[in-house]
Amino acid sequence: MTVLNSLLAVLIVLISLIYWYIKRSFSYWSSRGVPHNKPTIPHGSMKGLGKTVSFVHFTQNYYMKFRGTSKLCGLYFFTRPIALLLDLDLIKTILVKEFAKFSDRSFYYNDKDDPLSGHLVALDGVKWKNVRQKLTSTFSSSKMKYMFPTITAVGDRLTNYLNETIKESSELEMKNILARFTMDVIGTCAFGIECDTLKDIDNDFYRMGRMAIQKPRHNQRIAFLLNDFKRLARFLRIKTIRDDVTAFFMGVTISTIDYREKNNIQRNDFMDLLIKLKNEDSQGDFTKGLTVNQIAAQSFLFFVAGYETSSTTMLFALYELALNQEVQSKLRREIQNALKKHGNFSYEMMMDIPYLDQTIQETLRKYPPFTTLRRMAQNDFKVPGTNIVIEKGVSVVVPVYAIQRDPELFPEPEKFSPERFTPEQVKNRHPMAWLAFGEGPRNCIALRFGMMQTRIGLITLLTKFEFSPCEKTLIPMVFSSSPIVLSPKDGLYLAIKPITTE
Ligand code: HEM
Repeated sequence: MTVLNSLLAVLIVLISLIYWYIKRSFSYWSSRGVPHNKPTIPHGSMKGLGKTVSFVHFTQNYYMKFRGTSKLCGLYFFTRPIALLLDLDLIKTILVKEFAKFSDRSFYYNDKDDPLSGHLVALDGVKWKNVRQKLTSTFSSSKMKYMFPTITAVGDRLTNYLNETIKESSELEMKNILARFTMDVIGTCAFGIECDTLKDIDNDFYRMGRMAIQKPRHNQRIAFLLNDFKRLARFLRIKTIRDDVTAFFMGVTISTIDYREKNNIQRNDFMDLLIKLKNEDSQGDFTKGLTVNQIAAQSFLFFVAGYETSSTTMLFALYELALNQEVQSKLRREIQNALKKHGNFSYEMMMDIPYLDQTIQETLRKYPPFTTLRRMAQNDFKVPGTNIVIEKGVSVVVPVYAIQRDPELFPEPEKFSPERFTPEQVKNRHPMAWLAFGEGPRNCIALRFGMMQTRIGLITLLTKFEFSPCEKTLIPMVFSSSPIVLSPKDGLYLAIKPITTE
């Protein structure tokens, strides 16, 4: 009986301690006077996230509820506080002016046991700074110019593929087709390999690339937990990349490097630059060159970050152009005028179609592939003009999707209007109102490449085909619940008609 009583007493103390801990944690934002929704045990603010409410609408609901009342609002991931930024000046301060205080994203990686996880998106501190510095020249304008013909050649294959396929059906699921186009592009630019996934649907690149994004090793909740308990996770040698994906990309990287070095092959692609960096002899030291593992991690990231972001941008652009025929006709006219002016489809011609860039920017406004940006406070940071302190270790989230659909920044936000991106209109808006490629020193390193790939895809398609909605087209748009890259749920069908030239 006494043992039972003791056990009961221990249990009561334990439950009281847990209750006290949760109560104390859940008063984090109220004790600092930061607006928030009442958290619930055990999920904090995350109840139903990814199930009853998508990640996109979750952040949008918070933004719309609290914007104008405070510069930030508070969330809880389980008991962990997260700051959601609501004020554009504060966003600029954190991403640009005070970047050094918020330079890390604080994602979990484990480059020792899980080599592909040590890529630029996840790296932090000095490791990030050094790799970023080394990779920056890979994405310069002159490198883009070199890659231009390689990408237009894949564009020709896309045209041939569509010409053949529409003989059987004029209503096609475009998400998959465009993903294969960008995968072929990035396969040749990052690995120098002709994947030809447009022809060969069972191609390993296609399977592994999709697997990496669509069937990650852990679900989103576990991924969040790993971000929060990095040291413990590293101690337990937890990996985040699937073993089959690691084996495939490590194998391809090693054989590509080996083949090029033995045959003294030089190409104007990402791999070429990465190999040059390897030969700086790093011995694993990030301040020197790159090891084979580090090269594999960066090219894996280029592959994964490169294909889904640009293919969904093209997909949403075609969707909006199909629904807005007058915009489609105007854009086609502008492309044809540029072709006449320059004589052929050249790099210079591609860069001389302002309306195309406006259309892509408007697409990325409505459909930013990454719906939020993330940083972590490296030190306590007092929010200017308030008494609020963002404490060291607290994650800050920028709700990009919500900002870009804010009717005060973009009137009639559901309307698709490339005119919003004329130079005059852009000048009149806050520079943080459009954040599709992020901002500051940690923005998208491959902005030029992503834009080029999207421009080439759209020019190729719009000069040869007309797009319109069909019965199977998803109207209104419904997003997939995957929080990684914004994409339509269950694919997207469009009717396609070849343009016949008289
Ligand atoms: C339309 C296409 C693309 C969009 C909209 C896009 C968007 C973004 C965004 C929003 C970020 C985070 C920026 C921030 O936190 O401030 C990012 C980072 C990054 N993106 Fe892209 N991206 C695109 C294409 C690409 C491509 C094609 C590649 C590679 C070939 C790429 C590689 C990266 C890398 C490596 C980072 C991490 C940069 C760092 O942490 O230093 N992206 N991108």
